[in-house]
Amino acid sequence: MGTRKEVLVSKEDIKKQKEIICRIADLNKDRCPKFYIETYGCQMNVHDSEKLAGMLSDMGYINTDNIEDADVILFNTCCVREHAEIRVFGRVSQLKELKLRRPNITLGICGCMMQEKEIVEKIKKNYPYVDIVFGTHNLFKFPELLLESLNSDTTIIDIWDDNKNIVEDIPIQRAEGLKAWVNIIYGCNNFCTYCIVPYVRGREKSRKPEDILDEVKSLAKEGFKEITLLGQNVNSYGNDLSEKVDFADLLYMLNDVDGIKRIRFMTSHPKDISDKLIYAMKDLDKVCEHLHLPVQSGSNRILKKMNRKYTKERYLEIVDKLRENVPECAITTDIIVGFPGETEEDFEETLDLVKRVRYDAAYTFIYSKRTGTPAAKMENQVEENVKHERLERLINLQNSISLERNSEMNGKIVEVLVEGKSKRDSDKLTGRTRTNKIVHFKAKPELIGKFADVKITDTKAWTMQGELL
Ligand code: 5AD
Ligand code: SF4
Repeated sequence: MGTRKEVLVSKEDIKKQKEIICRIADLNKDRCPKFYIETYGCQMNVHDSEKLAGMLSDMGYINTDNIEDADVILFNTCCVREHAEIRVFGRVSQLKELKLRRPNITLGICGCMMQEKEIVEKIKKNYPYVDIVFGTHNLFKFPELLLESLNSDTTIIDIWDDNKNIVEDIPIQRAEGLKAWVNIIYGCNNFCTYCIVPYVRGREKSRKPEDILDEVKSLAKEGFKEITLLGQNVNSYGNDLSEKVDFADLLYMLNDVDGIKRIRFMTSHPKDISDKLIYAMKDLDKVCEHLHLPVQSGSNRILKKMNRKYTKERYLEIVDKLRENVPECAITTDIIVGFPGETEEDFEETLDLVKRVRYDAAYTFIYSKRTGTPAAKMENQVEENVKHERLERLINLQNSISLERNSEMNGKIVEVLVEGKSKRDSDKLTGRTRTNKIVHFKAKPELIGKFADVKITDTKAWTMQGELL
């Protein structure tokens, strides 16, 4: 199979997958084959893996955590930073021995990395024992590729450059029954100069509001209490739709779904945060007080080179407006250190911004050069040791701020959604506040899946301890 350009997926294409799912399920009916999926990267990938699991489950496969037991092994990959790519190749190398021992297993690699031509070439050349290679735009076609691979000795490769429409109705096996991810927009139009995502995930495509609403209503019927709306930039939701609907309108619509108690969303691009959204967050009882607002850098010079389309001052204005209207709101961010040309003064601007915003948490990254992006060709790439030293300073600062912010919670009463048993302490349960903070507290397991009021008794940078009221 060759590379296809942009593809319009027809109803027949989708029907075909459903038929193949039934055929494979029939082949598997007297066996108990197992599947194992390893996921790299962001929540979008985690959710894509839930779709792969859904299809596999409908085909009669059972999930296993033990790769040695699996009949189908899938690696769902990420290419945002080089480090993740290296790890995937390491894992695929390790599997050569397993594949020699059990030649009948199917080994598939999919996700963002596969949208890079050089990566697919490398797999063809160095990892010929891989059975299936597919990308982000044709995930729905996995049953057909699996069937083809079961009848073939060569690597099946199918990568699309983009797809024109969204495929609805892919079966989803969600990892848990309480909180669900819901895609609302795919792709990205922003082309931040360091980022590979627009090249591998294609242009923005919003799901129709009625499709999202139907999904959320059925999640509520199944007993889910919390949804997180997903998109590379949820704030541009609706821009590509013919009907006039934006992200805030969608929140109003979903807030009315009975049974759903909490609504979260990620990720928000600061250039697209509207006052309307801030007022929606203030108004809507189910929308949680948490905004993930990646800033990337505090230096206007670097923000410009990153093509972020806002300044430090504008970003701080948004934060002020948010805190004025939603005072309890937790704010988290993503920050890159060591972008090409970042000087000590630029970095100090970032530290200054972090001190002024006082983030609840920050995900901090060392700039990773991605071939094909404009920043990869920029001069004055920052030396590795400088990047590491800046990262450490940033993490130390943020940890002290997270600790301070959490300690302000001491003695307060918070509502948590109880998610399960605490991994560290077996007689404790773990829940999350509306601000997305983790709280451990002593209680009976019957409380799992319910809401509880907890008094905070002790705080650390990432977690809090509490007492059930
Ligand atoms: N290097 C380092 N971090 C990156 N991110 C995106 N591209 C790169 C890169 N080339 C980070 C950004 C983004 C997060 C998901 O990953 O901070 O918000
Ligand atoms: Fe990448 Fe920027 Fe798009 Fe986020 S908004 S996915 S950082 S290009």
